[in-house]
Amino acid sequence: MSSGSRLRVAICGAGIAGLTCALALSEYPDIEIDVFESAGKLAEVGAGIGLFPRPWQIIRKLGLEQDLLKTTESKLIEGRAPSFRYRKSDQREGVEFFRLYTQGSLILLHRADYQQTLLHHLPKSCRTHCSKRLLSYRQSHNRHGVDLFFEDGTSYSCDVLIGADGLKSAVRRCMLHEKSGIAQAEGRWKESMELLRSVDPIWSGQNAYRALIPAEKLRARAPSHSVFTAPMQYLGKNGYVLTYPISGGKMINFVAFDIRHELENTKFNGPWVSTSNKSRFASRFADWEPEVQTLLECVEEPLQWAIHTIPPMKSFISGRVTVMGDAAHAMTPHEGSGAGQAIEDAYLLATVLGHPRTNSTNVHHTLSVYDSIRRPLAYDVMEHSRMNGHYFSLNVDGVDFDSNSVSVRENNWRIYDM
Ligand SMILES: Cc1cc2nc3c(=O)[nH]c(=O)nc-3n(C[C@H](O)[C@H](O)[C@H](O)COP(=O)(O)OP(=O)(O)OC[C@H]3O[C@@H](n4cnc5c(N)ncnc54)[C@H](O)[C@@H]3O)c2cc1C
Ligand SMILES: *[C@@H]1O[C@H](CO)[C@@H](O)[C@H](O)[C@H]1NC(C)=O
Ligand SMILES: *[C@@H]1O[C@H](CO)[C@@H](O)[C@H](O)[C@H]1NC(C)=O
Repeated sequence: MSSGSRLRVAICGAGIAGLTCALALSEYPDIEIDVFESAGKLAEVGAGIGLFPRPWQIIRKLGLEQDLLKTTESKLIEGRAPSFRYRKSDQREGVEFFRLYTQGSLILLHRADYQQTLLHHLPKSCRTHCSKRLLSYRQSHNRHGVDLFFEDGTSYSCDVLIGADGLKSAVRRCMLHEKSGIAQAEGRWKESMELLRSVDPIWSGQNAYRALIPAEKLRARAPSHSVFTAPMQYLGKNGYVLTYPISGGKMINFVAFDIRHELENTKFNGPWVSTSNKSRFASRFADWEPEVQTLLECVEEPLQWAIHTIPPMKSFISGRVTVMGDAAHAMTPHEGSGAGQAIEDAYLLATVLGHPRTNSTNVHHTLSVYDSIRRPLAYDVMEHSRMNGHYFSLNVDGVDFDSNSVSVRENNWRIYDM
């Protein structure tokens, strides 16, 4: 072990999950940190991200709060705070039917601002290596350490491997193959097959079309558009539109969801993320209310995301290896919580790894504490997010949203209590 460090941690993936974890771990000077990222440089997609109070508490603990607040118009409110306004919009004249209030405000950020702030705070001692695509790892249970193998032919050894490599995680794939091999060797055939079946992500039947609209462009067409006063959700049968200002009010984050529940769990043909054009989805919103039409007029080349999730795993860990963030629990975005969950993973992982009694011998036990706390919580959020996808596309058993007799308010909307 080099330079007397207590633990050598390798993080695979420098997204929100990996970088937040690296920063949280850097509080412990006797832990060595290397981050391996497949991309040639660190660049986030141009899109917004909302953070609820619980992950925000972590942001505060990590010392990022003041710098992040400088990048947003969102006001930090500790008590009851106004959040999204909901309209039924798949009709000529929309109706507002619900206003969400949360305990503590939702902070809306540009993803690139979050990433830049993280990078700015990351100490030099934490090494970040770009153009390092992990292919696989190997660990043997009677020997200390994990060996990592990269696409460029190089390898690296560490005490702990954290897979923060997103939806198509190589770490998760390798981990499931490893567990499947063990199950097979021990004659647990059914389990062995099930593990292999859970390697590939599942298409949710939903596509998101994301774009950033310059606020001035929208203001020129509709100076009193609702999005200038509150984050908005425009709901209807085929999906919904979500929009809010970011970057100090200069940009409007726009996402349109095209939702086809009947296609959940089928195969999506085509690239999962691609540049698209309006004609690919605008027809789904053709008869929607004017505020939605105005937004659509301002969108040019949205990014199309085919929303995939990962099948639940029975464990996030194997020996000295663990997964976190989307690699562990990629979920639909309808609770605005995928990144928030990654931030919670990061903080808890760093806390257990940083514990003074954690060392390279007992690290498996340490990781099992992370797994037992975070897995049920993250999967609970994942399930609520899936249900929100049904609510937001007005797909609730036994409720006819077009009938006058229904008060949508009385239905079982989940109020964020985080
Ligand atoms: C439309 C939409 C809206 C969303 N809105 C919100 C929101 O408002 N609030 C919220 O909390 N969440 C939101 N999310 C979810 C959030 O974006 C994700 O949960 C979060 O970005 C996941 O971060 P991550 O670091 O785990 O994964 P990623 O961002 O995917 O990062 C993984 C990193 O690993 C790298 N990598 C991949 N494979 C390898 C490899 N083999 N070797 C080395 N590196 C590798 C990748 O290049 C990447 O940099 C939204 C998601 C979508 C699709
Ligand atoms: C938009 O996409 C459709 C379908 O892929 C394609 O046929 C059309 O030519 C595209 N339009 C523009 C303006 O790029
Ligand atoms: C790690 O800690 C355990 C006690 O928790 C101890 O028994 C073991 O010897 C330690 N190992 C190392 C390498 O320090």
